[in-house]
Amino acid sequence: MVIANWKTYVGAAESVRAARSLRALLQDVAGKAADIVLCPSFPSLAAVAGVLAGSRLLLGAQDVHHEVGGPYTGDVPVTHLRGIVRYVIVGHSERRRLHGETDALVAQKVSRAVAAGIHPIICVGETAEERAAGKTIARVAEQVRAVLPALSSLALGAAVFAYEPVWAISAGPRKPAPQPAPHEAAELIGLIRKLAAGRAGAASATRLRVVYGGSVAPDTACAFVSEPGVDGYLVGSASTKPAGFTAIVREVLRCRS
Ligand code: PGA
Repeated sequence: MVIANWKTYVGAAESVRAARSLRALLQDVAGKAADIVLCPSFPSLAAVAGVLAGSRLLLGAQDVHHEVGGPYTGDVPVTHLRGIVRYVIVGHSERRRLHGETDALVAQKVSRAVAAGIHPIICVGETAEERAAGKTIARVAEQVRAVLPALSSLALGAAVFAYEPVWAISAGPRKPAPQPAPHEAAELIGLIRKLAAGRAGAASATRLRVVYGGSVAPDTACAFVSEPGVDGYLVGSASTKPAGFTAIVREVLRCRS
């Protein structure tokens, strides 16, 4: 599974152009060899949904509000996403850091998404400070435990976790951050799967997809998916150009074949 998180990098017209290119570039593998999800910003969702209709590329939103609806100016509830997107990113570190989203709030978003039939892509990961203090495992476990009660066994099998060390997320296109060693990321991903299995049973945990995110680019795309249990990537800045994103998808498939 390879997920493109376009953040605020790609505007409405460019999102449509990029989705058209990716539909053509990836039609031979989308939904067959790989699940490919594009996550543009809210104003582009409906137009990109139109571009992707009839293809096997999937659409996701970058966030969702934790309430179903009501007096929440500027927010987007699940009811507005239902029927448009298959996936929604929740708990991204940029939301946690810049919008004060807590583990409890992220869990509420997961519940809303699941109730609306939208599969959550749940981001977890430690900050540089937490890593320096030796708290990586504790912090990731805490974030995972907070959302597991919001996921039934069935929902867990359709959910995605993204292990994204906060310090590994790029500062923008061509501004990569340092990455963990692939085996370190795989250990954390193993921890996520173990916690999920403890809650929902081994069968659901096996179906659960857990991806890595943080400065993934074509030249690093082989390293992480070569580790056991790493099911793909959540890609930010390197996903914003169709050629770059396509190169990542092809590299994943080459390494896994
Ligand atoms: P990046 O972002 O690939 O630009 O590091 C990943 C993410 O934040 O999801």
